[in-house]
Amino acid sequence: MVEEIERLSTGISELDRILSGGIPRGFFIAITGEPGTGKTICCITFINEGIRCNDRCIYVSTEESADSIIRQASQFNFDFKKAIEEKKLILIDALMGKDEQWSLKSLDVEELVNKVVEAKKALGYGRARLVVDSLSAFWLDKPAMARRYSYFVKKVFFKWDLTVLATSQYAISTSEAFGWGVEHIADGIIRFRRSVKSGVLKRYLLVEKMRQTPHSLNMFEIAIVDGKGLVILGSLEERKEDIALPKEVIEKIKKAKEMKEAEIE
Ligand SMILES: Nc1ncnc2c1ncn2[C@@H]1O[C@H](COP(=O)(O)OP(=O)(O)O)[C@@H](O)[C@H]1O
Ligand SMILES: [Mg+2]
Repeated sequence: MVEEIERLSTGISELDRILSGGIPRGFFIAITGEPGTGKTICCITFINEGIRCNDRCIYVSTEESADSIIRQASQFNFDFKKAIEEKKLILIDALMGKDEQWSLKSLDVEELVNKVVEAKKALGYGRARLVVDSLSAFWLDKPAMARRYSYFVKKVFFKWDLTVLATSQYAISTSEAFGWGVEHIADGIIRFRRSVKSGVLKRYLLVEKMRQTPHSLNMFEIAIVDGKGLVILGSLEERKEDIALPKEVIEKIKKAKEMKEAEIE
C-alpha cells in the first residue's frame, strides 16, 4: 500500500504543482543558485505560507539583517512584523553579531542549532518551518568539518519537527558551490539560475532532486514581481522561443514557406 505523504505548501501554487503537492514534512531542502536569482524571496514566501497556515516559523538570516528581511517581505504584502508580535515567527539575525536573544554572536554551527531549538521551544509544540539563509556561511572557514556538521544539523532539525529550507551560494565564476555544499545531504534540491537573453535578465528554477516525489523535470522561467512575489512563468519546453531559433530566423523560414505555397497555388 502506498503511504500518503504530508506535504507543506511552498506558498507558490505553481511550484506546489511542480512538486506534486509541496515539500514532504520534515525534509531538508537545499536552495541553491547564484546571487540575485530568488533564493531569499523563495524562502520568505515559504515562511509567509507557514505563518498563514499556523506553522511555527523560524528564519535565520546570515546575509541580510532582520530589518532587511522584514522590508523585503513587506514588498510582497507579507507582514512579518505582525507575525513576530503574534509569536508565530522568530527571526534570528546572524549578520549583526548583536548580543540579543534572537541574534547569533558568531557564525558557529552549534550556536545556530542551540538557537533554533530555543526558538522552537519558545514557539511551542507542532509542525514547524525553518529557513537558514545561508547555511553555507556557517562552514565557509571550516570546509573539512562541513560534512560532519551538516549531518548533525539535519538530524537535530528533523527531531524538532522542522521542515527546512537551507540556502547555499554558488561561486559566480565556476557555478560550483563554495566548499562542501548542503546539497550532498539534502532530501531535495531546488536550483535557481539566471542568464541574460537579448539584453534582459532571466531567472529560472529547476527541481533537481526531491525524494519520494514524482516532480517535474522541466526547467521553469520565473519572475519576481513587486507586490506579488515569485511567479512561475512556464516551463522552457512550453516556452520554445527561449531555446528555439532566433525570431528573425523563424520569420525568414515562415516567409519562405508562404512564398512556396503561393507558388503552388
Ligand atoms: N519588490 C521587488 N519587486 C521586483 N523585484 C524585486 C523586488 N525585490 C527584490 N527583487 C528582485 O529580487 C532580487 C533579489 O532576490 P533574492 O531572492 O534576494 O536573491 P538571492 O538568490 O541572492 O537570495 C533583486 O536583485 C531584484 O531583482
Ligand atoms: Mg539571498
